[in-house]
Amino acid sequence: MSLYDLVRPALFSLPAETAHETGMTALRAAQGTPIERLARRRLRVDDERLSVAAFGRSFPNPIGVAAGFDKNATVPRMLAALGFGHVEIGGVTAERQAGNPRPRMFRLRADRAIVNRMGFNNHGAEAVGERLATARLPDVPVGLNVGKSKSTPLEAAAGDYEYTFERCGDAVDYTVVNVSSPNTPGLRELQHRDALESILGTLLDAGARPLLVKLSPDLAAEAVDEALTVVDDLDLDGVVATNTTTARPRSLRSPEQAERGGLSGKPLEPVATDFVARVARQTDVPIVGVGGVSDAQGAYAKIRAGASLVQLYTALVYEGPTVAREINRGLLELLEDDGFDHVSEAVGVDC
Ligand SMILES: Cc1cc2nc3c(=O)[nH]c(=O)nc-3n(C[C@H](O)[C@H](O)[C@H](O)COP(=O)(O)O)c2cc1C
Repeated sequence: MSLYDLVRPALFSLPAETAHETGMTALRAAQGTPIERLARRRLRVDDERLSVAAFGRSFPNPIGVAAGFDKNATVPRMLAALGFGHVEIGGVTAERQAGNPRPRMFRLRADRAIVNRMGFNNHGAEAVGERLATARLPDVPVGLNVGKSKSTPLEAAAGDYEYTFERCGDAVDYTVVNVSSPNTPGLRELQHRDALESILGTLLDAGARPLLVKLSPDLAAEAVDEALTVVDDLDLDGVVATNTTTARPRSLRSPEQAERGGLSGKPLEPVATDFVARVARQTDVPIVGVGGVSDAQGAYAKIRAGASLVQLYTALVYEGPTVAREINRGLLELLEDDGFDHVSEAVGVDC
């Protein structure tokens, strides 16, 4: 039995977002104290076989924190101390936003899933940029996930993304254009060719490198082709696959599936893994695989499907703060079982 097995019932007795805030408060309190050092000693798996070189950056292991967990970049060092090999902060928008009315985050416990319709609640580019510029950042890569302000019309989206990059981009190791959240009206239309070219082109002109784009698992096949053509044409540095889905697989059992928003966690896992394999077959850029990963087998499946890096959010809720260590340890065993000397050898073997 882990410590989190004892804490989880108390957290799960709270509304999902309150539980998240409680967790964040605990992480903030621990950051910069001896607890951070203790966590680092116990939870980091230091092994050269797990190191990843992708888009010009070095990662100590492939497992990162997905966007949305640390929207305002308040606990990146503590997340690194939990054993994550990178942290993607955000989504940050140009404007400070309150997001949608609460409740807007729901546990689907029987399905080990979450539905959220947060709507990019965040402190805004100015405040997050200030924090990134003044805070001590972790010794693992930090990514910036950029969203669009709700009040900015779709036609003006490029300038909105650029504004955020200008304020936050200098401090981070890579930037992700999020055009795939289902919770900002019209956002996912920005995955189409012209809009994507305009946004990504504007950011490249502004100096955003490495630059990645995060795609929705709900994109139709032709739209995926279109987006990947833009990735190739603009010589982008990578693809993050995937965001949450608005689909509701028939396997779902929890009543909260009726809530509007994006579904993450276990039911998304096979969909996201298939999507990673599809992207891997169509492009040569590094892929960040995300969706439902909660254990070493799941992370390994994403890697074998073509992901160089893997991220998770929902598993932090269900598995707790030791999840990165468990996955990294398990990955070493799986690599050994398959006769791989390094994680890079497993990337894409199944795609
Ligand atoms: C509460 C919540 C908020 C999220 N916010 C963002 C966000 O701001 N930007 C983004 O690109 N993805 C966001 N995501 C999506 C995650 O980054 C990830 O793509 C998705 O949850 C699938 O991974 P998982 O199954 O490991 O959670 C959010 C997810 C959740 C559950």
